[in-house]
Amino acid sequence: MGAFYRLIHAEADGLPGLVVDRFGEVLVVQVRNRGAEEMRGLWLPALIEITKPAGVYERSDMEARSAEGLDKRTGVLHGAVPEVLKVEEDGLVFPVPLALAQKTGFYLDQRENRRLFENMVKPGDRVLDVFSYVGAFSLRAARKGASVLAVDKDLAALAVLERASRPLGLDIDVRGGEALPILEELTSRKKPFNHILLDPPALAKRQDELPWVKRHLVDLLRPSLSLLEKQGWLWLSSCSYHLGVDQLLEVARRAAADQGRRLRVHTITYQPPDHPWSLHVPESLYLKTVVFQEDSLPISSNRHLSSNPVRHPHSQPRLFRGCFPVGQKLFDRIRQRGGDAVLVFGIGQLGAFNLVVAKSNLDQNRGDAGVAQHVQ
Ligand SMILES: C[S@@+](CC[C@H](N)C(=O)[O-])C[C@H]1O[C@@H](n2cnc3c(N)ncnc32)[C@H](O)[C@@H]1O
Repeated sequence: MGAFYRLIHAEADGLPGLVVDRFGEVLVVQVRNRGAEEMRGLWLPALIEITKPAGVYERSDMEARSAEGLDKRTGVLHGAVPEVLKVEEDGLVFPVPLALAQKTGFYLDQRENRRLFENMVKPGDRVLDVFSYVGAFSLRAARKGASVLAVDKDLAALAVLERASRPLGLDIDVRGGEALPILEELTSRKKPFNHILLDPPALAKRQDELPWVKRHLVDLLRPSLSLLEKQGWLWLSSCSYHLGVDQLLEVARRAAADQGRRLRVHTITYQPPDHPWSLHVPESLYLKTVVFQEDSLPISSNRHLSSNPVRHPHSQPRLFRGCFPVGQKLFDRIRQRGGDAVLVFGIGQLGAFNLVVAKSNLDQNRGDAGVAQHVQ
C-alpha cells in the first residue's frame, strides 16, 4: 500500500470522531466531534510518538463540527509540513496544496477502484471522469493511452491535475463547472465514451434528503447514458451512508428505462481495508461503487409494452417468451433476417422476458414463426 493510506478511520478503528491520513512523512488529521477534541492531549502525543512523522497538519473544517459547537481548526500541529503535499499513488504524483485541498487532501478511499479501472482501460478508449477532483482516475486512464475529459467544479483541483499530467507528457482535457449542465451539453458530441465515471460528493447527508438526491442522480445518469458507447462502462459511486447499493441500482434502472438503454451489473465494490467497515457501526460502510456495462441489445421499457406497444406500421406484433440465453439467440436470428425486434424486460416470472417482434421484413413461413417454435 506504500506510505499513503488511512491510519485511523474514526469509530471503525475505535476512535470516534478522529480521522488520520498518512501521506508519506506527513499526517493529516480531522477532529470531527467534541469527544475527540477533548481527548486531544492524549491521542496527539501518542500519535506522534508511535508514527514519528515529519509533520502533522490539521484540517478540522468540516460542517459537522458546528453541530457539536466546535469552531473550525486548520494548520500545522507538529513539525514541518510543506505547503504543497506530494501525494503518490502507483507511480503517479499529485502536488496538492494542503490549504486549498478537499477533506484531508486526497481521496485515498478510491485507490482500489482506480486500480481496477486502470486495468480495464484500453489504449484509444475515450474516458469521461465526472467529479474528478485532482483526476486520480483520469491520469491512470491517460497513461494507458486513453483520451480523457475531466470535469469538476473545483478549479484548484483541476489545476493540480494539469500540474500532475504535464511532467508525464500526458494531455488531459479539463472542464471546470457544474457537472449536470456540462453533461447535458456534451450529449451533442458525436463520439461516445468507453468509460464514464460518476463519483459525486456525499449528496445525502440525512435520510430525508434521499428523494431529492435520487432524482438528481437520475438527472446525472440520463445524459451519461446517452454518452456511453455500446458495451461501455459506467462507474457510479456513493460516499454517503444513506445512499446504498440498492439506491444506486434503482437510480440506474430508472435512468436506463428513460433512455432506452440496458445495463448489466459488472461489479460492486466497497471501500478498501484501510477504511474499515465495522459490523457494529453500520455507518462506517460509506463508499459503494457499482460498475455497469452497457448491454448492446436495444430494449423498450415496461411502460412501452403496457401503454404503448412497439409496433411496425405494416404488421401486428407477436409476443414470445423464453429464458435469456434462448432469447438472445432468437433475438440475433430475427435481426439477421432483417426483422425488427425489441426485448422487453421485467414482465412475467423472474428470469423470463417477453419479446415483441414486428414482422415487417420477415419471411412469414420461415422467419419469426419458425424461431418462435424453437423457444416455446
Ligand atoms: C468524491 S469527490 C471525487 C473524487 C475523485 N473521483 C477522486 O478519485 O479523487 C467529489 C468531487 O465532486 C466535485 N463536485 C461537487 N459538486 C459538484 C458539481 N455540482 N459539479 C461538479 N463537480 C462537483 C467536488 O469538487 C469533488 O472534487
